[in-house]
Parts: sequence; C-alpha cells; structure tokens
Amino acid sequence: MNIRSDVTEPVLAVRGLSVDYAAADRVRAVRDVDLVLHPGEIVGLAGESGCGKSTLAYAISRLLRPPALVTAGQVTFTGVDGSTVDVLGLEDEELRSFRWSRISMVFQSAMNTLNPVRSVRRQLHDIFRAHRPAMSRDERDERSAHLLELVGIGRSRLDGFAHELSGGMRQRVMIAMALALEPEVIILDEPTTALDVVVQRDILREIDRLRAELGFAALFITHDLSLLLEIADRIAIMYAGRIVEQAPASEIRIAPQHPYTAGLLNAFPSLRGHRRALHGMPGSPPDLTVPIAGCAFAPRCPYAIGPSHDTPPSLLQEGDHAVACHLYDPRYSSGPPQALREGRFEISGDDSSGITGDISSDDEGIKA
Ligand SMILES: Nc1ncnc2c1ncn2[C@@H]1O[C@H](COP(=O)(O)OP(=O)(O)OP(=O)(O)O)[C@@H](O)[C@H]1O
Ligand SMILES: [Mg+2]
Repeated sequence: MNIRSDVTEPVLAVRGLSVDYAAADRVRAVRDVDLVLHPGEIVGLAGESGCGKSTLAYAISRLLRPPALVTAGQVTFTGVDGSTVDVLGLEDEELRSFRWSRISMVFQSAMNTLNPVRSVRRQLHDIFRAHRPAMSRDERDERSAHLLELVGIGRSRLDGFAHELSGGMRQRVMIAMALALEPEVIILDEPTTALDVVVQRDILREIDRLRAELGFAALFITHDLSLLLEIADRIAIMYAGRIVEQAPASEIRIAPQHPYTAGLLNAFPSLRGHRRALHGMPGSPPDLTVPIAGCAFAPRCPYAIGPSHDTPPSLLQEGDHAVACHLYDPRYSSGPPQALREGRFEISGDDSSGITGDISSDDEGIKA
C-alpha cells in the first residue's frame, strides 16, 4: 500500500459526532466533533485528562459500552479499494470483520492486556485464525515473525510470554498485533504514556517508519502535545468534548491560535528546539455534566472577552487552520492580543490576576 497524499478522499471522516454518558448526571463527553484522516497521515489529538479523547476513539472503533450513547454524527470509512463503510451502522458480524482488518486500535495501557498465559506466537496466531482462516500454520508463523521484526523485536521472542517482556516490548507487541491484518487506519490512544521518555521516542520513531512503509493512517492520542509535534502531520486540540483548534503540526508549533493550545505548548517541555520558561495552566477542565453556555475555556483564559462567557464560539476555518475562539471572530473582536499572536499564554501579574473567572477550584469557574 502506498501513501496517497495526492488523494483528497479521507480514509476516515468523523462528522458532527456527539457522545453522552447517560449516567445519573448526563456527561456530555464529546460534542459535535469533525475530524478527518487522509491515507498515510498521522493526525494527533491532544488535550488534558477528561476532555473526551478516549471516548472519541472508542466511538470511532465502536467499542463504547453503555451508559455511553452516540447522540449525533457519522463516521465514514473509505477503503483504498473505494468501498465506503458507515461505521456507526455496522451490525455485529460486519463489525467483527471490519475491526482489526480495516481499523485497529492500541489503547491506553494496552500492554497490560496481553494474555499472560499465551505466548506471543499464539496471540498473533489467534488473530489470523479468526480473520484469515485460509492461512496455513507455516504462513501464520512466518507472518508473526515478520510482524515482530517490523516493530523491532527479534523472532526469538515469539515463544515468549508477557511477563518476560519489558513494558516497551509489550507495547511493541500490541502494535504488531494492531498491524497484523494491514489495516488502513490505526488508532493509538496514549500508547506510550506508561513508558520512559527514551522508549517513548523509540516507539514513536517506529510508528512513523511503519506508517511510511505500510501506508496506514494513524490517529495518535496523547495529553502530551510536545510528543505530537514530533510525529503528527496535523494536530487537533480537544477541550471539554470539542475540537477547539485543528491545523498542520508545523502551524500549531509556531503559530497556535487558541489560547488553550498556547497554554498546552507552554506547559510541556519541548523535546527539541529552544529552551523556554514553562508555565502551568491554572485551573482544570470543566465538569461535563453541567451545560456550558459560552466558551468552555473562558474561566481559565487570560484573554477571554465578554461574549466568551455566554455565546458559544463558532469554528472558524481559514485555509487548513480551524479555531473556535471569539478572539478570531470579527463579530466580537478586532483580533487576538499581541501576546497570543506570539504564542504566549500570558497571565498578567504573578498571582494570575489577569484571568477571568474563578480558576481556584476544579469546576466551579465554568458554572459561573
Ligand atoms: N463510563 C463512564 N461513565 C460516565 N462518565 C464517563 C465514563 N467514561 C468517561 N466518562 C467521562 O467522560 C469524559 C471524557 O472522558 P475520556 O476518558 O474520554 O477523556 P480523555 O480525554 O481520554 O482523558 P484521559 O487523558 O484521562 O485519558 C470525562 O468527563 C469522564 O469522566
Ligand atoms: Mg483517555
């Protein structure tokens, strides 16, 4: 499979997706999300804990369980063969053959989901037996060894068990399993969070190399924006269930538009590039059981303006850069302040007194 960067048809298109957890207090976990993945592209999804990243990933891969409920939207998969699949409409049987072979996943702490009493070989064979029943034992063996080598593990490990592998190796095995049936899309939800920084970098490089070699598109989820800057072609920033900014990674790095993106960039050390002072972002994401009247980020935003507090921001698209922020909407603002244009998340004064709203408690501010 080759990377088809010249083809504009996305391999995966999420349109207007909303997901609730229908618990005693309804959690509006994902709100009206639009996201596309082109063949061979790595799209990064970043945002703080609880902003809805995993819920979105589970919805796309049809792994949501009650009380989760998709309340609106569509997920469309278009294969290299031109076939189109309405992912949310798949029946159980269709879903079984779709998952792993066309979209596969490596999830948060996936490395702990390897079966402890089955060898790596048997776990890879299980996938082939279920999805490629015509394969002979020798073919399964050869393919399993090849997959391990693809992710940088010697074939001698085929007869190993999970407890004999390091965390990094286990995560690589999970990636090998996700690649087993040559899916066109792979969703990686915090695949390296539990690993040390050096191993994280190695695995990221491996994913990037495999993408170039095998041509799959990847949705790479993490709360660490600096990691995404290393690997992603495009980055979507999620806050309180919504995508608040989406742009090529190079633009997010040098010209972030949303104050939240600027805040995230300031909060993480860059793995490469200039050293700079780091500032934590004050406050926490809002309680998603409480309806949000205006911009969800306003209570934590040093640049919030009047309408931010009661009018929802529209997603404004200019070229391939989209942002949902009142500061870029000519109806409310003559443009973002200079500090934000320079990518700074600037809290005026030492005591954060420039911030609008209550940022001292977890979620009180957003209710104001
Ligand atoms: N089973 C559930 N029942 C009720 N609420 C849930 C459930 N799972 C998640 N939530 C809520 O949905 C929201 C989004 O959660 P989600 O796990 O998607 O966030 P996330 O961005 O992946 O966070 P993290 O970075 O911690 O993995 C959170 O407010 C969370 O508390
Ligand atoms: Mg998550």
